[in-house]
Amino acid sequence: MKYPIILFLIAILCVQCMTTSKPIPEKQYGLITEKAMVVSAREEASKIGVEIMKQGGNAFDAMIATDLALLVSYPSAGNIGGGGFMVYRQKDGTIGALDYREKAPLAATKNMYLDAHGNVDSDKSQIGALAVGVPGTIAGLFEVHEKFGTLPFEKLIAPAIRLAEYGVVVTEKQAQNLNDHTNDFKVANKRTIVLDKVWKKEDTIKYPKLTQTLKRIQANGRGEFYKGETANLIVDYVQNLGGIITKEDLASYEVKWRNPVTFEYKNHRIISMPPPSSGGICVAQILKSIEPYDIEQYAHNSIQYMQVITEAERRAYADRSYFLGDPDFVTIPTDSLTSKTYLSRRMASFDWKQATMSSELSRGVFPGYESTETTHYSIVDQFGNSVAVTTTLNSSYGSKVYVEKGGFFLNNEMDDFSAKPGAPNVYGLVGAEANAIAPQKRMLSSMSPTIVEKDGQLKMVLGSPGGSTIITSVIQNILNVLEYDMTMQESVSKPRFHHQWLPDSIKVETSFDTLNFPSLKKLGYNIDQSNTPIIGKVDAILVLPDGRLEGGADPRGDDSADGF
Ligand code: GLY
Repeated sequence: MKYPIILFLIAILCVQCMTTSKPIPEKQYGLITEKAMVVSAREEASKIGVEIMKQGGNAFDAMIATDLALLVSYPSAGNIGGGGFMVYRQKDGTIGALDYREKAPLAATKNMYLDAHGNVDSDKSQIGALAVGVPGTIAGLFEVHEKFGTLPFEKLIAPAIRLAEYGVVVTEKQAQNLNDHTNDFKVANKRTIVLDKVWKKEDTIKYPKLTQTLKRIQANGRGEFYKGETANLIVDYVQNLGGIITKEDLASYEVKWRNPVTFEYKNHRIISMPPPSSGGICVAQILKSIEPYDIEQYAHNSIQYMQVITEAERRAYADRSYFLGDPDFVTIPTDSLTSKTYLSRRMASFDWKQATMSSELSRGVFPGYESTETTHYSIVDQFGNSVAVTTTLNSSYGSKVYVEKGGFFLNNEMDDFSAKPGAPNVYGLVGAEANAIAPQKRMLSSMSPTIVEKDGQLKMVLGSPGGSTIITSVIQNILNVLEYDMTMQESVSKPRFHHQWLPDSIKVETSFDTLNFPSLKKLGYNIDQSNTPIIGKVDAILVLPDGRLEGGADPRGDDSADGF
């Protein structure tokens, strides 16, 4: 008799559940394709990358074509006057990373941005010709082509040439962005330039000078940019504006193949960018610091979720500021920084009842150790290769210096160095000796192109722009999918937050739910909702359980997924 009663009660409970509980929201998927995909900041660039793969090209061919298409369609960050990083995973599981980061010119000096009183003159490191680092993008693209390309480079650059010649239709966001920077363009170039007009949606921008530059690169190869006519145009223009880049700087630029940072997070293998990016090490530190916590038991973006992640971020960024720099110049204790023992010691001071004060926390100590605008795109090809690429001019339109006869912007990556210990850069990041300026040194980055594997198979490709917030945008998207089972599109669309040790505040997007702020403030957390309409712009690809690909194109921009 007992069992029918229990069954009856269960049945009533179920009926109640069905009538009183909220319906489970349907999952919102992004574009789903069978074999191949590109997700990037612009529709034109994603389409061009996909077209190359349809013609039989692989993910590396598509990377080159997409990158050059972004130069034309997304000139605030897409570039040949900047640099970037690529993390890749081939179909057989081989992984690697390419560093084509800018370098300090030979004539750069440690104190070059200090004024007579020893204060940082950030105008010099952020805008104008003195802010420009030696660009690495063209060297990077040719290196990728030499090692992995299957289609001729001339074919891969052709779509970008067509785009530059016939023009790009301006989106509303792009028109706004261009108009916001008109004055900076004038300051940096000491004159009016071609992009100087009031832009509106649906305008077309044509780039006749850039068309010529790309055609010369198509005809003459890598040497055109580093030793040819384009090199001369860059050096003449920069030096006329008071910059220090020489022909020798360009001629001696070299890319570096690096070993990615790899680590395990709850049965997933994460593969990310090593120094001179801080990305991989910080992503590893943050995720490994929170791994002992049962993250999925906290509601997404709840008080506890924000606390544990903020405290891990605070500690990782404090270490970043002290230990990280160009590995060709400084010794980085990567193993110690990412060891489980060290990270659990670091998190030991975390108290659920009270925020740690950044002023009371500095870098960790190990026994024996002495010592907006970037863009990201993700690609998976029909053969199973994947690439995650983050490329940058640093700020939007970089230094705003526009090589007039070449038709392209130059970076202001020199601001990513620590111009003076403890003095914040454009992202509020502080640094120390490890990231001090030296000739031919690479400035520390936060760019974190990342690939995630599960059981030896590709699971996710992701990355973001956003300066210091790149790292925290990447980890939140890894957690959204791994801990909260979100689709890729749901994940990239979720509101984000960020803590970077100094300044001691949790930055939140303006769309972030304010419900928990009073409680967080009571616990000692400062919340900063000013000036941060968005944090990061994540473009990512998720491999679904049935092997199909789902794109997550960040709705914060004009980002777009395409594929077949
Ligand atoms: N310029 C931004 C970064 O490399 O982190």
